[in-house]
Amino acid sequence: MTGKTRGVAIIGHPVSHSLSPQMHQAAFDALELDYCYLPFDLFPKDLKKGVLALKLLGFRGFNVTVPHKTKIVPLLDQISREASLIGAVNTVLIEKGKLKGFNTDGPGFIESLKREWHYSVHKKHVVILGAGGAAKAVAAQICLEKAASLGIVNRTVSKGEMLKKQLQKSFPSIKIAAFPSKGEALKDFIRQSDLLINATSLGLHPGDPSPCPPDYFFKGLKVVDLIYNPPMTAFLRGAGKKGCQTLNGLSMLLYQGALAFKIWTGEMPPVRLMAGTLR
Ligand code: ATR
Repeated sequence: MTGKTRGVAIIGHPVSHSLSPQMHQAAFDALELDYCYLPFDLFPKDLKKGVLALKLLGFRGFNVTVPHKTKIVPLLDQISREASLIGAVNTVLIEKGKLKGFNTDGPGFIESLKREWHYSVHKKHVVILGAGGAAKAVAAQICLEKAASLGIVNRTVSKGEMLKKQLQKSFPSIKIAAFPSKGEALKDFIRQSDLLINATSLGLHPGDPSPCPPDYFFKGLKVVDLIYNPPMTAFLRGAGKKGCQTLNGLSMLLYQGALAFKIWTGEMPPVRLMAGTLR
C-alpha cells in the first residue's frame, strides 16, 4: 500500500462470508493497481452514516450486498437503467463527490452464459423459479436482452404476479406469464422453453429438495442454478440426469464482480485469476 492507495469496499450485514474481498484484491494485485478492498459489516440503521463515511474517506466505490441493496437507492446521486428497473444496486462508483449506482448482477448472469456456453437469451423462451431479489435482477436483464418469453414461477404466487406486472409494463412486447410452483400449465410451458433458471434459495441448505419436479426437465433444456455454494444442488442433479446442460452460480458471481471491477478501474480484470480465488 502507498499514500495514494484507493479504497474499495463491500457493505453488508453479515459480510464475513463474502468471497468478493479475495476475488477483487487478487485482481488489483495482479494488475498492479493501487487499490485495497475491505469488507464492512454495517447495521441497517447505520447505512446512511456508513455511505457518507466511505465518501468522506475518499473510497473509489463499493459493493452492496444483503440487506442494503434496495435501501441504498435513495442515498445515491444517479443510478443506471438496470438498477432503476429493479430498484436495487450492488455496485457504487464515487466520482467527483457523486455516488453512482449500478447493478451488475443481471449483466453478470448474461455474461456468464456468453462466456461459458456462447449462449444468448435473445429471442429465447426462458423460465425463472423465484421472485425475490436475485430473481428480479436476472428476470429484468433477460427482458432487457429481448427474450421471446419469460415464465415466472414462485411459491407465493402473488409475488410472482407482481413481478410479472412490473416487467410487463416496461416490456410490453415480451410474453410474460406467472405460475405457481407446480401444475400441468407450468410443465407445458417449460416443455416449450430453452432455458430454466433457479433463483430461489431452495438448495442452499444440505438436504434441500429441488424446486422443480424431475419430470419437468428434458434433454435440450439448458439449466442454471444461481446457487454456487453448494456447487451441486438437487435441482442441477435432476437436470443432469435428464441430459440437460447445467451451470451453477459461480460464474455469475465472477462476472458480476468483473463488471464492478471495470466500473471502478476502467480496466478489464483478469477473470481466470478471479475464478481461481473463488474456487
Ligand atoms: P434472494 O435475495 O436470494 O433472491 P429473497 O429475496 O428472500 O432472496 O427470495 C427468496 C426466493 O426463494 C423467493 O422467491 C422465495 O419464494 P417466496 O416468495 O414464496 O418466499 C423462494 N423460496 C425460499 N424458500 C423456498 C422454499 N422452501 N420453497 C420454494 N421457494 C422458496
